[in-house]
Amino acid sequence: MNPTIVSRFRRDVSFTGEHLDLAGTAVPLKALTPGQGAALKLLADGDRDDAELAAAVTALDGETGLLRWHMLFRGLNTSGLVEHAVREDREDRADGEDGGTRESREVIARLRLVGRGTTLLAPAPAGPARLSRFAEARVVDGTLTLQAPGRHLAVELAPRAAGLLGELAAWSTGVPAPILRLLATAGLLAPGGPGEDVETAERSHAQWHPGDLAFHARTRTPASASGYGGTHPLGDRFPPEPVSPPPAGTRTVALPVPDLERIAAADPSLTEVLERRRSIRAQDTEAPITLDQLGELLYRSLRRRGTMTGGDGQELADRPYPSGGAVHELEVYPLVTACEGVPPGLWHYATDRHELELVAEPGRATAALVSEARGAAMLEADPQVVLLVAARFGRVMWKYETVAYPLVLKHVGVLYQTLYLVATAMNLAVCGLGGGDAAAFATASGRDPLLEGTVGELVLGSRPRMEG
Ligand SMILES: Cc1cc2nc3c(=O)[nH]c(=O)nc-3n(C[C@H](O)[C@H](O)[C@H](O)COP(=O)(O)O)c2cc1C
Repeated sequence: MNPTIVSRFRRDVSFTGEHLDLAGTAVPLKALTPGQGAALKLLADGDRDDAELAAAVTALDGETGLLRWHMLFRGLNTSGLVEHAVREDREDRADGEDGGTRESREVIARLRLVGRGTTLLAPAPAGPARLSRFAEARVVDGTLTLQAPGRHLAVELAPRAAGLLGELAAWSTGVPAPILRLLATAGLLAPGGPGEDVETAERSHAQWHPGDLAFHARTRTPASASGYGGTHPLGDRFPPEPVSPPPAGTRTVALPVPDLERIAAADPSLTEVLERRRSIRAQDTEAPITLDQLGELLYRSLRRRGTMTGGDGQELADRPYPSGGAVHELEVYPLVTACEGVPPGLWHYATDRHELELVAEPGRATAALVSEARGAAMLEADPQVVLLVAARFGRVMWKYETVAYPLVLKHVGVLYQTLYLVATAMNLAVCGLGGGDAAAFATASGRDPLLEGTVGELVLGSRPRMEG
């Protein structure tokens, strides 16, 4: 291996001879010397090493032109217009009869700008190097790509170089410096060294699971990932999902529509509700929650009050609680064990029709969900109702990219609080849960967990009489 660092303009940058063009926008340059113009042309044509660029400058500007070229090149790197790679220059023995050799050049690693920032190269570490435990490897458009959380640069590896990742799983001095420079620039190398592993020793690093940090960084560091806001990543490949899910089943239970005027007149004040709200982990087994109460809670918290169409053609909804972009991807599945007027089973609440649709009769799969919720809430008996909150992921992911999943989790919180407050006003016992089993819900409901999966759950029932 004879690896060398080479550079070229980013794929979306072109050179007109006078100025640079960045994805259709002109980037002005100070008056160029002939040597600078020649070197920029080389960068626009493909990967060049420092020596090739310097030779082009000195041929036209003389040795004195080099300092100004280095300043210009540094400025291009600071603006993130250049990308770097490691090229392997080899002499291969040719197969022909003459037994001669043939030179081959192959790029084995490339530093790519995937967000916003500079492409100034960092030095290779002086001592042994190791991959960061937060480094994430993915296949992107057929290429193995590594990125560290929150970093705007990624490193693409050709198959010849991919084995180096195994070498770098432990502190090593066996990896060529040019490759280490790319990895260091992309923040992919662990800080510290053998005997001082910062990533496990220091609280700031040790407390993070790589998956959590990658998720947090992707969604909260716009410079490290494009795709903030309504980018419609699937807009030209799939139609938006309708606001109403397909009907769940043939067996339904109509819910009475509560009289909101009467309720508003009798309700405790907002302050009283907020001050009274508690998580209640006991239920009155003698007098379970009723169909009327379940219907009122669902109606007041999440019924569909209206349907609209967004400017992008996606159907939107209006419900009592807020939702980013009004996409309202959350569906509530009451899993009933004891509710006067509703047979036990897994039901779906149709927010538009205000009715329950039977998804599954009670069975082993629903019993597993009940027992998990009972354990999580430390209840002495099975909860009368488990409100399983599922997300129809496509409703958000059709429109949003980096904020899609975080929005779902925020919506779960908003819905939890709405259910807590309405249940408190109605004197019901409710307790939110911090975890659940999306696979168990998929088994019980028959839903494809990649299309619709549980993201939250609460236990609900009548309030024990002694609780007042
Ligand atoms: C998102 C969330 C997750 C929760 N997870 C659980 C849980 O798994 N089990 C449980 O018994 N309580 C759970 N709770 C209830 C909290 O323990 C409770 O809110 C906290 O102790 C404060 O008590 P309070 O709700 O009565 O004010 C959860 C609450 C929230 C908001």
